[in-house]
Amino acid sequence: MTSSEHDTQSHLRNLADNLQLLADMAYSAVSLAVPSEDGSLRVLADARPYTAIAPLPASREGQVLAPKDEIEAYEAFTTGRPAGGSRSRTARGIKYATFALPVGEGPCAVVLRDIAEQVTEAPGAMETAFMAAADELLEVLTHGPITDSRTNELFSTRRTAGDGVMRITPDGKVSYASPNAVNIMRLAGVEGPVIGRPAAELPGGGFGISPVAGGGDAIEAETDVAGRVLLYRTVGLTSGALVLVEDVTEARRRELELKVKDATIREVHHRVKNNLQTIASLLRMQARRVGDEGAKAALGEANERVAAMAVVQDLLSGSDAEQVDFAEAARTIVDLVARGLLGEKSRVDITVEAATGDIEARAATSLALVLAELVHNALEHGIAGRDTGKVTVRARRLPEELVLAVSDDGPGIPNGFDPESDSNLGLEIVRSVVKDDLKGTLSFSGGRGVTVTVRVPLVIKDGE
Ligand SMILES: Nc1ncnc2c1ncn2[C@@H]1O[C@H](COP(=O)(O)OP(=O)(O)OP(=O)(O)O)[C@@H](O)[C@H]1O
Ligand SMILES: [Mg+2]
Repeated sequence: MTSSEHDTQSHLRNLADNLQLLADMAYSAVSLAVPSEDGSLRVLADARPYTAIAPLPASREGQVLAPKDEIEAYEAFTTGRPAGGSRSRTARGIKYATFALPVGEGPCAVVLRDIAEQVTEAPGAMETAFMAAADELLEVLTHGPITDSRTNELFSTRRTAGDGVMRITPDGKVSYASPNAVNIMRLAGVEGPVIGRPAAELPGGGFGISPVAGGGDAIEAETDVAGRVLLYRTVGLTSGALVLVEDVTEARRRELELKVKDATIREVHHRVKNNLQTIASLLRMQARRVGDEGAKAALGEANERVAAMAVVQDLLSGSDAEQVDFAEAARTIVDLVARGLLGEKSRVDITVEAATGDIEARAATSLALVLAELVHNALEHGIAGRDTGKVTVRARRLPEELVLAVSDDGPGIPNGFDPESDSNLGLEIVRSVVKDDLKGTLSFSGGRGVTVTVRVPLVIKDGE
C-alpha cells in the first residue's frame, strides 16, 4: 500500500466511524460508497438516524448501487461536485430526497444522504441548527479525516443518551445550545443565557471547547467543576465548532463507588485471612510450650484469644464501615474473659471506663487480643485466688492515640520478674502486637497492684 492509499484508507475509516453522528445530526440515512474496479459504486458503510424516520429500513452495506436508481451518487462521483436534491423519491410510503458529496481528491468515494421530506418541511430551531452543523461536518469529513488535537489520532464520536449539543462561532461564542446543553450548564452553575456567551466562560470550556473553536481538529476533555463532571467532545467545523457535552457526574461517582467497594471487599478478605493466620500462629506458639499438665489451660487460653478477636470481627460484620467502636468491643471482651476465669457469680469488682469512638478495624482486632491478655493476667495474677478484688479497664482516645490501661489491686509484679523483657506467652503476645503490629508502647507501673498501659497511634503507617 502506498502512503497515499494508506491516507485514503484512514480517511474512509474515519468517515465511516463518524457516520452515525452525521446521520443523527442530519436526520438522514447516510451511506459511504466506494468505486469497484468495474466502475460501480459499492456501499462501504452506512448509518440510519435515531432522530428521524429513515426511508431506507436496513443497512445496504456491501451492496452495489444501481446507476439507474442512485443517479446522484454516480453524478457526484463522475463530476467531483455535489449533486442531488432535485427529484423526489418515495420508499415505504416515505417521500425523500438524496444528496451526494464527493470524498477527497479524485474523488475516492461518495457520501449519500437520504432525508425524508417531512423533516425538511417545517424544521424547528433545533433541527435547523443540527442540519447546518451536519452540513459543515460533512464538508469537513469529505475533505479529510478529523484528528484529535491532543493525541493526533483519528477522532470519531457519536451522540450519547442525554448529551447536549452546542454550536460555537469562529470567534468562540455559543450560537446555539440544545435544551439538554442548557440544563447541563445550569447544573454546572452557569447562570444567565448560554447562547451568546464565550465558550471559554463555560465550565471547562477553556480547554474542552476553545482550542478547536476556530475550526479544524477535535478534542475530548473531561472537567470537574462545581461538583459536576462534564465531558466535552468538540469537533472543529468549517466555521466554528460543534460541541457535544455530557454530564457524567453520576457515571463517574458510580465508577468510584464500585472501586471503593471492590477495595473494601478485598480488604475484608485480607483481614479474615490475616486473622486466620494469627490464630494458626498462636496455636503453633502455644503447642510448642504446652506440657501435659498445662495442656487444658493453654488450649483454654487459645480459645479466649481467638474469641476476643472474633468479637471485633463480629462487630465489623454487622456494618459496612471499616471501623468499630472499640469501647463496645472492650466491654464484651472483658466480660468474656471474666466469665471464663471467674464464672458467673464472682464478687470481683470489674469496671470498664471506655470511650473511644470508632477506630480502624485492624487496630481494633489487635487491641482486642491485647486487652484479653491483660485482663486475663489481672484476674489470674492480680486477683490470684482471692474472692474479692478490683480490676479497672480504661480506654480513651487522645487526638492521635488510643490509651488502654488495665489495673488490679493485687500483689504486684513478682520480685525478679522484669516485665519489659521477661514473659510467658501472654505478655509476649502483648509486646509483639503492641510494638510490632500497632507501633505503640507498653508500660508497667507498680505500687499497689499492677497497671499496664498501652498507647497506640491511631494512624498506623506500615505500608499495608
Ligand atoms: N497483673 C499482674 N499481677 C502480678 N503479676 C503479673 C501480672 N501480670 C503478669 N504478671 C506476671 O508476669 C508473668 C508473665 O505473664 P504472662 O501473661 O506473659 O504469662 P502467664 O500469664 O504466666 O502465662 P500465659 O502466657 O499463659 O498467660 C506472669 O507469670 C506473672 O508472674
Ligand atoms: Mg498471662
